[in-house]
Amino acid sequence: MDVLKLLHKMTIEEKIGQLMQLAPFFFIKDLEIEVAGHVSDIGINQKKIFQSGSVLGIGNAEEMIEVQKKYLNQSRLQIPLIFMADIIHGYETIFPVPLALSCSWNPQLAYQMARVSASEASAAGIHVTFSPMADLSRDPRWGRVVEGFGEDAYLSSSFVKQMVKGYQNGDISQPGNLASCVKHFAAYGAVEAGRDYNTVDVSRLFLHQYHLTGYKAAIDAGAKMIMTAFNLVDGVPSTVNSYLLREVLRDQWKFQGVTISDYDSLHQIIEHGCAQDNKEAALLGIEAGLDIEMASSCYVNYLPELINEKMVDIKLVDEAVLRILELKNEVGLFDNPFKGANPKLEKELIHSKEHLKTVKEISDECSVLLKNNHVLPLKKDAKIALIGPYAQSRSTNGSWSWHGKRELNSTLEEALIKDGVIPVITLNVESKEKISDQEIEVLKTAEYVIIAIGEDAYESGEARSKTDLSIPRKQVTLIQLCKDLGLKCVVVIYSGRPLILDQVLEADALLYAWFLGSQTNESISDVLFGKVNPSGKLTMSFPRNVGQIPVYYNYFNTGRPKREGIQNEFVSYYLDLPNSPLFPFGYGLSYSSFKYKDLILSQDEIYPSDELCVKVEITNQSDVSGYETIQLYIRDYVSKIARPIKELKGFKKIWFEKQSSQIVEFKVNLNDLMIIDANGNQFFEYGKFAVMVGPNSEDVQSKDFRLIKESEL
Ligand code: BGC
Repeated sequence: MDVLKLLHKMTIEEKIGQLMQLAPFFFIKDLEIEVAGHVSDIGINQKKIFQSGSVLGIGNAEEMIEVQKKYLNQSRLQIPLIFMADIIHGYETIFPVPLALSCSWNPQLAYQMARVSASEASAAGIHVTFSPMADLSRDPRWGRVVEGFGEDAYLSSSFVKQMVKGYQNGDISQPGNLASCVKHFAAYGAVEAGRDYNTVDVSRLFLHQYHLTGYKAAIDAGAKMIMTAFNLVDGVPSTVNSYLLREVLRDQWKFQGVTISDYDSLHQIIEHGCAQDNKEAALLGIEAGLDIEMASSCYVNYLPELINEKMVDIKLVDEAVLRILELKNEVGLFDNPFKGANPKLEKELIHSKEHLKTVKEISDECSVLLKNNHVLPLKKDAKIALIGPYAQSRSTNGSWSWHGKRELNSTLEEALIKDGVIPVITLNVESKEKISDQEIEVLKTAEYVIIAIGEDAYESGEARSKTDLSIPRKQVTLIQLCKDLGLKCVVVIYSGRPLILDQVLEADALLYAWFLGSQTNESISDVLFGKVNPSGKLTMSFPRNVGQIPVYYNYFNTGRPKREGIQNEFVSYYLDLPNSPLFPFGYGLSYSSFKYKDLILSQDEIYPSDELCVKVEITNQSDVSGYETIQLYIRDYVSKIARPIKELKGFKKIWFEKQSSQIVEFKVNLNDLMIIDANGNQFFEYGKFAVMVGPNSEDVQSKDFRLIKESEL
C-alpha cells in the first residue's frame, strides 16, 4: 500500500480520526473490556467513532472480526482499525509477573514468554501489545513494580530487549507476531513516595543514566511504538513533553515509530495545570509529537478548529498519520484487515499443553529461596501440614492478566496432592485465632508446616500503592503458633512486590513465590520437594522497613560514608537501622552450594581498545545439580561525575552438575566503563576501576585495574 498516496486522499477529519484510540464497546455497545477509568462519555458522535484509527483491548478473535467488519462497512477509504491491548505476561496462558520473571536472571525466558504471548494474542486478533514496561523503580510502595524488571538498568534492559524481540520476531506482518509498544516514557517508576500517578522529579543526569535506558533498549531492539507516562518530567507532563518526545526520542534516538498517550493522559494535562482546556491540550500534544491519543477526545474534537485557526500546521497531523498508516501497513492490515485473528487457532493455543509446559519451565526459575535452615527440600513422606490464607487460593496470576482464568489454576493444596503429598491438615486461615483446639491437636501431629501467606494479587499493579508493606500481623501469628508447637515452618510468600519480611525471619525456610501465573503452585510444589532446585535471585533490594525506601544496591558513596569499625556519628547512616537492605539485589539461595575461588584478571592495566578477561573458578560442592547466577559489577573510583559504588555490567546463569567445577569468564570492555552525562552523551575517563564478581551484590570479591592511554605504555 502506498500510504503517502492514501494520506493525500484523506479529509482532515479522517486524518484526525486516525489519532484517536477507543475501546471496542464504542463500536459494539455490548462488548465490555477491562479498562481503567471512565471512558463512555468523551463527547464524540457516531461519525467520529467510526473514523477512529485504533482499538484498545478486545475480547477475542470473534469480537475483533465483528468490530473490524462493522467499522470497514462504514469506512470511506477502507483503512482498517489496528487492535492494541495490554498483553503483559501472557494472554490467556499466564506467565510469571515481569518482576518475578526478572528474578530468573535469564532474559531468554522473556523471549520465550513473549513468543507464546504473541501467538495467543495474535490469534485473538491483537496487533500491538502495550509491553514491555521499562520503568525503573526503586520503590516497592509503587504497586507497578510488579510490571517491571527490577531496580537495575542493565538487567532490566536485557529483559526488555528480549521481550521486544520475542513479540515482534523480526516481522510484525506474520500472524503469531505482535508489534511492541514500550512504556511509560518517561521515569514513571520514580513517582514520589511510590504513590501512583504522583509527581516525578529526577535530574536530567539520572533520567539519562537510569530511567531512559530501558525505553532506549526497547527501541534499539526495534519496538514499533512508545507510550508516554502519566507523570511530569521537568514540570511538563510526559505526554506533551517535547524534550522527551522530540529531542530525545526523535532527534537523539532516531525513533521512527508511533507515539501514544497513556489512558486519558492527554486530557489529564488539564488536571496537571498545564493546559486550560481540551483545546490547549490538543495543541500541546500535537506540537510535542504525540501521535495517538488514548481514550480521550482532545484531538478529535479540537484539532480541526486549531488547524482552521492556523494554530496547528496540518504538516504535524500528516506526520503523525503517516506513522500510523505505516504501522498498519507493516502489520499487513491493508492486505488482510483481520490479520492474525483466528477463532479456531485461538482456542487451540490458549492454555494448550505446550504453552503450559513453557509457563512451568519458566516459573521454575523465578521463585526466590531467601532462607533455608536445612529444612528444604521436604521429603514427600514427611508429615506435613498446610496452613495460611493462600493455602487454597487460585489467585496466582497477578496483575494485568485480564484474559487469564484463575479458576483454571491449582491451589497449593491441589498441587501438593497432585504430587502425592497429602497434608495431615489444610487450614485456609489468615490468623491463629481462626484455628480451633481440635485443629491444633491435628496440627501438632505434623513435623513440618507450609505456611502460605503474603498479599493478594489485587494489591499490586496499577493504582495499588501502599505505605505499609509488612506481612499482615494476623499472618505472622500463624508462624508464631507453629513455632510454639515445635513445627518446622516453611513460609511461602505470594506477592507482586518486595514486602517487609522482618517479622517472618523466624521461619525455618522462606520461599518468595511471587505470582507465577497459570502454573504457580505446580512450580512451588516442585521447589518445595526438590524436583526443582530454586535458582531465582532478587532484582529489587528488600528493605528492612518502609522508612529505608528507597534502598538499592548501586548507591553513591556520599562525602561521609559509614565505614565498618570506625566510630563517627556524623556519617551517612540511620540511628535505628543499618543502611543495607534485609536481602540485597542479586540474592537468592539454591539447594546446591557454590564456592567461588579467587578472581583472576588478565591484566591490571588496559587500553580503551582492550578487553579485560575476568575469570573465576566456581565449584558446586553439593550433591545437587543446579543453576548459579554469577554477577559482575564495576566501580569507577574517580570521575568528574560521581559514580555508584558498584554497577552491574554482566551476569551469567550457568548449570553446574553436582560436585563439579567450571571456570566462568567475563569480558570487560570500554562499553562497560562508559558514563552517561546529563544530555545523554556517553564518555569515558582514564583511571582506576574495580571489578567485582559474586553470587549477589553484597557478597563480592573485588580487584582493581586501570584504564590507561596508549601513550602511557
Ligand atoms: C496504564 C497503561 C496501559 C493502559 C491501557 C493505563 O491505565 O497505565 O499501562 O497500557 O492503561 O490499558
